[in-house]
Amino acid sequence: MNLHTHVPALIDGFGRKVDYIRLSITDRCDYRCIYCMPQDMRFLPKDEVLSLEEYYRLVKIFVSLGVRKVRITGGEPLVRKNALWLFNELGELPGLKDLVVTTNGSQLEHQASALRQAGVRRVNVSLDSLDATRFHNITRVGQLDKVLRGIEAAKKAGFDNVKLNTLLMKGINDDEAIPLVAYAIAQGLDISFIEEMPLGQVQRLHHSTYVSNEETLKLLRSRYDLISSVESTGGPARYWRVPNTNTKVGFISPHSHNFCESCNRVRITCKGELYLCLGQESKVDLAPLLKQFPNDDIPLRNAIIESIRAKPKGHDFNPRRNEPAVIRFMSQTGG
Ligand code: 5AD
Ligand code: SF4
Repeated sequence: MNLHTHVPALIDGFGRKVDYIRLSITDRCDYRCIYCMPQDMRFLPKDEVLSLEEYYRLVKIFVSLGVRKVRITGGEPLVRKNALWLFNELGELPGLKDLVVTTNGSQLEHQASALRQAGVRRVNVSLDSLDATRFHNITRVGQLDKVLRGIEAAKKAGFDNVKLNTLLMKGINDDEAIPLVAYAIAQGLDISFIEEMPLGQVQRLHHSTYVSNEETLKLLRSRYDLISSVESTGGPARYWRVPNTNTKVGFISPHSHNFCESCNRVRITCKGELYLCLGQESKVDLAPLLKQFPNDDIPLRNAIIESIRAKPKGHDFNPRRNEPAVIRFMSQTGG
């Protein structure tokens, strides 16, 4: 079959076309960020996690159904053994236009150039502080200088774009919005601020440290003449340009913006569960079909098409409530 003619699209019940998947290839991480995991996080037993071949098969099926963009996430995707094999295979997959990765940067120093060569077009690197002690406190284990060297390596590797992702918490790192943007400008990178989402049981009082992007934008505008940009990714991000620089400042605002109506994405966990919305429980487990029909993609294709039809209309987060809206970890659904 020629994939370029007659590609059936994944259309949900609200007419939204799904052409973007976020795939977590491990729930494990070498960091333990305070907003993401408890200190003593228990990870999945290895036999519950799909093989790299199974991820490849899944992506191939999604691409045959019209998906054009894949973001590889975790946990920390680059700690998955042999992850590069998957990146190389995906980089060669006809029809997949945009292969991107989200990482904490701890492995980038050594892996950036191989990822670029595999065909990864863009990387997002999480960076919440430029102060080594704070960085260590937020990640519980991370070393700032290693990540900064990783960012340097990513710049050199020649990706189309390297973007920083920052999560601000009141009294912890909310005084770093301006320094982090200054760093992004100096490095010629983009930066996005992510509002904390009440996911998982991380033993934190989410509402007490919650910083809205509205506050962050206001603070940044006291220092920079930000110019609103019309660019849209079909996601919950709004972008601003910093004049006379190459830097765009993004705000990922799951709470303050109603982005659900243009949502174009679904998520796949490292166990092979298809989550139709980040803020909802509705999911379909694709693992049994993967195992039961190793040589027949039809049952999987049908299950995927049917699941997407049932994609929920939107999410139901409330940052001021002290309960996670959905009891699962970001490291399982892949952010
Ligand atoms: N709310 C918002 N973002 C989160 N991340 C992890 N946990 C949360 C949460 N509870 C983000 C990190 C990282 C990305 C992979 O996911 O900030 O940048
Ligand atoms: Fe790891 Fe990312 Fe979670 Fe931090 S936010 S613990 S780097 S998965």
